[in-house]
Amino acid sequence: MAEADDTVSKDYRADVPARNEPFFLKGSNHLDWGLKNRLANIFDARSGRTVMLAFDHGYFLGPTSGLERVDLQIVPLIEHADTLMLTRGILRTSIPPTYTGGIVLRASGGPSILKELSDEEIAISIDEAVRLNVAAMAVQVFVGGEHETRSIHNLTRLADLGNRHGIATLGVTAVGKELVRDAKYMRLASRICAELGATYVKTYYVEDGFETVTASCPVPIVIAGGKKLPEAEALQLAHDAVQQGAAGVDMGRNIFQSANPAAMIQAVRKVVHEDFKPREAYELYQTLEKEGAER
Ligand code: R5P
Repeated sequence: MAEADDTVSKDYRADVPARNEPFFLKGSNHLDWGLKNRLANIFDARSGRTVMLAFDHGYFLGPTSGLERVDLQIVPLIEHADTLMLTRGILRTSIPPTYTGGIVLRASGGPSILKELSDEEIAISIDEAVRLNVAAMAVQVFVGGEHETRSIHNLTRLADLGNRHGIATLGVTAVGKELVRDAKYMRLASRICAELGATYVKTYYVEDGFETVTASCPVPIVIAGGKKLPEAEALQLAHDAVQQGAAGVDMGRNIFQSANPAAMIQAVRKVVHEDFKPREAYELYQTLEKEGAER
């Protein structure tokens, strides 16, 4: 038992007000400590942004190009990611439990690429998410899609469960083939996700008016990378998105399908966290590629 500490003088600093600093992320100030702590494991508090390495594509596409062997193709990259976006199957089988970045778990699913994709259900229990120590659960939301109401209900149920356990909910705005990818649609879909409980939102960058999408969404927005582009164009996309208010990227194919994924993710980091210009980042990519960054 500790002895009474009456021999050492005390310093209450009564003249110094208690620290009361706002949390660094948009819309997150009134969340509880556990949820904020998990968000700080997704977003870097210094830049307020994140590089999420997305490789959950197999949940409806199977062994996508670049993801045939996650142990060989992805594990060497995870040290460069703030967060991993993946399924529980790949997490358990292929990711070392020594990884300490945030885990964003794919939490909805159902149909494969062979069927109607918008027909998703919640695909995990909250016990399983807690057991896997995830920072966030990601749910696909099909605003304007055939199963719109169900997908919104998936989001609200996951937000209820996540809030109970201090786990964030990532609303993923999914754009069907029939819907136009423009700022008007992205504003609508992102705002609906935020209004109905998403802690943050993933959407797509659009050329015209993306800053109105980020401005009108009260929670952080990250952008998906989309289909593989030449490296310089993908870096430009990431740059334009963060400069117009995105809190980072959730990038998959433009990293793991790159000619040199390790060089690419490091270049993306510079754009996201250090405001590198696209040309500077592309030069870094080329240098790292020449030096033979581990692929
Ligand atoms: C789609 O399968 C997933 O939601 C991906 O996590 C997301 O689309 C980001 O990956 P990509 O940058 O390849 O679009």
